[in-house]
Amino acid sequence: MHKDPSKKYRAFPPIHLPDRQWPNRVLTHAPRWCSVDLRDGNQALAVPMNVSQKLELFQTLVKTGFKEIEVGFPSASNTEFAFNRLLIEKGHAPDDVWLQVLVQAREDLIERTVESLVGAKKVIIHMYNSTSPAQRRVVFGKSKDEIKAIAVKGAQMIRDRLHRLKGTEVMLQYSPESFSMTEVEFAKEISEAVMDVWQPTPQHKMILNLPDTVEVAMPNVYADQIEWICRNIKNRDSLIVSLHTHNDRCTGVAATELGLLAGADRVEGTLFGNGERTGNLDIVTVALNLYMHGIDPKLDFANLGSIIDVYERCTGMAVPPRQPYAGELVFTAFSGSHQDAIKKGLAEREKIPGAHWDVPYLTIDPADIGREYREVIRVNSQSGKGGVAYLLESEFGIELPKDFQREFGPIANDAVDKLGREVSGAELKAMFWKEYVERNTPWSLTSFETESKNGVVKCRAKLLRDGKAVEFSGEGNGPLAALVHGFGTIGVPRFEITNYSEHALSSGEEAAAISYIQIKTADGKSRWGAGVDTNIELASVRAVLSALNRL
Ligand code: KIV
Ligand code: ZN
Repeated sequence: MHKDPSKKYRAFPPIHLPDRQWPNRVLTHAPRWCSVDLRDGNQALAVPMNVSQKLELFQTLVKTGFKEIEVGFPSASNTEFAFNRLLIEKGHAPDDVWLQVLVQAREDLIERTVESLVGAKKVIIHMYNSTSPAQRRVVFGKSKDEIKAIAVKGAQMIRDRLHRLKGTEVMLQYSPESFSMTEVEFAKEISEAVMDVWQPTPQHKMILNLPDTVEVAMPNVYADQIEWICRNIKNRDSLIVSLHTHNDRCTGVAATELGLLAGADRVEGTLFGNGERTGNLDIVTVALNLYMHGIDPKLDFANLGSIIDVYERCTGMAVPPRQPYAGELVFTAFSGSHQDAIKKGLAEREKIPGAHWDVPYLTIDPADIGREYREVIRVNSQSGKGGVAYLLESEFGIELPKDFQREFGPIANDAVDKLGREVSGAELKAMFWKEYVERNTPWSLTSFETESKNGVVKCRAKLLRDGKAVEFSGEGNGPLAALVHGFGTIGVPRFEITNYSEHALSSGEEAAAISYIQIKTADGKSRWGAGVDTNIELASVRAVLSALNRL
């Protein structure tokens, strides 16, 4: 890298807009959305989608609620043309969905594009040409006036062919491609020249799409450019101002959100941000960002998982694990303190049904987009006792007492640390069983019987101590007190029961009860034990033996 990057690179010049309004505004409603997955997204695939893949993705986009879908570049290839014809001839497009097609300002391409649209219900013809200084100089070698002439001629060629689309509702769209790198004054001039040809009105608007073809500046600069155009262009009320951002500086979402504040009406983008280089705008993120502020995004991501499946199958792309909202790890907390906070937040919600969402670390309720709470917490060596307890409780109904959690948490963490990976709930339960429930040396239970008379319980215990049979009797005010007394009669050092709880296990092979018991020895050592049995009394006896076995 250069020691002095300013010798090679320079900052993008800011827009002079001292009275900019957008920073004081807030978003209150969803924009019009246009998916460009089947065009911009498709153009960026190593292997572009075939007709059946495009159809599957198109149908998913329709189901998600997109009313404007750029279905392709019909003059670019036979597949693209055939796809248009399939949609139109087989009636795949619902009546309220606009089929958008892209075309350059060239006669042969416009001709073929119009041909591909015959018989459609609603279409948007989207014409573009590049307008930035670098494109004018390097690619076209043309002056501003010559570039403007290309746009005007293209606009005329489209206008002159509209009579061929009888019975089709047509909306026209113009993009000064590389708008964000173009001088705003020239972007305005060329757009107005196209407007002069197409003559939009407030009743029959045209779309003016202002692409951030390559992100070269901070999102506030794009917002200034959008506000400048919205304030200075003529007949603003005859325009639908549209945003089309890419993500080169990783601020495509921010640029879009600020662009909406700046006055735009419409947003183009793709699912999960597929597109050239670093991608197009991720529409899912912008829509769900609105949703998390309580605004209906007018797109339905209630089953985001199935949208991801279709997307991955059709495009061959993968949704990264940390992709906002959609990534596999988005609702997963690894840190113990996060897990604890989430657990408390979720518990609070259960007590206040209907309250606004305010769970620490979770921007939205995962269930709203078809994810599950149990995905929230997994356990690795960094997880605290809260995460361990949550997983045991949510997956197996094992409700460890608080103090028990403090003992088992570090034991589980040590074991996970040794494995060097995160563990599933089932593995965690196996650790718990090994440490407590299956501990049967030195003591294990053969039988335990009790009888009660006048408030005194007598017990008869048959046990194995290191495999050798041991028998004793004891008495007390309950079975456990009798057991503790009995141990004393055979010379086992004194201990007392300091904590006791039990509950039924919800399901599984041990459709039984689990008992948790803490004992404390005369020399101050305390240990927890757990026992499982179909008989609650035997479960607690087993828990005492488990605790003794852990001394
Ligand atoms: O990124 C871009 O500028 C485009 C245009 C064709 C709209 O995709
Ligand atoms: Zn693009």
